[in-house]
Amino acid sequence: MSTQFEIQGLKSSIEGKEILKGIDLKINGGEVHAIMGPNGTGKSTLASALMGHPKYEVTEGAVTLNGEDVLEMGVDERARAGMFLAMQYPSEITGVTNADFLRSAINARREEGNEISLIKFVRQMEAKMKELEMNPEFMHRYLNEGFSGGEKKRNEILQMMLLDPKLVILDEIDSGLDIDALRIVAEGVNAMRAEDRGFLIITHYQRLLNYITPDFVHVMMQGRIVKSGGPELAQRLEAEGYDWVKEELGIVDETVGQA
Ligand SMILES: Nc1ncnc2c1ncn2[C@@H]1O[C@H](COP(=O)(O)OP(=O)(O)OP(=O)(O)O)[C@@H](O)[C@H]1O
Ligand SMILES: [Mg+2]
Repeated sequence: MSTQFEIQGLKSSIEGKEILKGIDLKINGGEVHAIMGPNGTGKSTLASALMGHPKYEVTEGAVTLNGEDVLEMGVDERARAGMFLAMQYPSEITGVTNADFLRSAINARREEGNEISLIKFVRQMEAKMKELEMNPEFMHRYLNEGFSGGEKKRNEILQMMLLDPKLVILDEIDSGLDIDALRIVAEGVNAMRAEDRGFLIITHYQRLLNYITPDFVHVMMQGRIVKSGGPELAQRLEAEGYDWVKEELGIVDETVGQA
């Protein structure tokens, strides 16, 4: 069965303050959805709430992946069910090497007794690192520790490739990437496009979408998706900014602090 991911009326609060004010979104396998929107409008909050970050309390709504209730699942279970988030600001973990981390993550998604062999894992990791033009030394570096901004982003894509997720959320994967790295990362994403995998790509720039053509583009303001369209919507935003959307919808302040 092709992947189906559905968000219905999702509301989420942080420390009692409502940030997400009712998100509806349906992503089918094979589709790439882009979310754009000014700073502070709830994009990363959506990503965190979907992954089950404990700080973000879901107060209303439903989220399902292939019919299964995602909101009932813990963070680990969501990962095991095939959800993957490349964070806007990946965390550094001292004492855990990149290879150890990835191997545990892969094995966590497998049945006991069916773990990936070390040799097979190393071969896969080496092959994917080569595709991403990463220096082999990153295999044994501590996870993200001292990685440059661009190296962290490339490493997030490495994780995505090895974990083979069903739903991929990329939060500003393009920020901090140089021109060549942007192309390499985009090629990595395009190579992962498949009928049983959906993508939610949060970005500020049309530039990324020149490489990864989205099927749908959504604009987020005030903790809601206020406008949706095709790739041409991203092009218009790049050319004209957000004022025309705000005018069209009668929005004065787009941030989530506003009603
Ligand atoms: N843990 C938190 N504590 C307090 N406020 C928070 C927290 N997380 C998010 N917020 C607030 O929620 C609002 C939305 O934040 P969010 O990170 O989702 O924005 P964004 O759309 O991703 O912005 P950007 O484009 O700058 O990344 C902001 O006003 C932010 O300060
Ligand atoms: Mg953000």
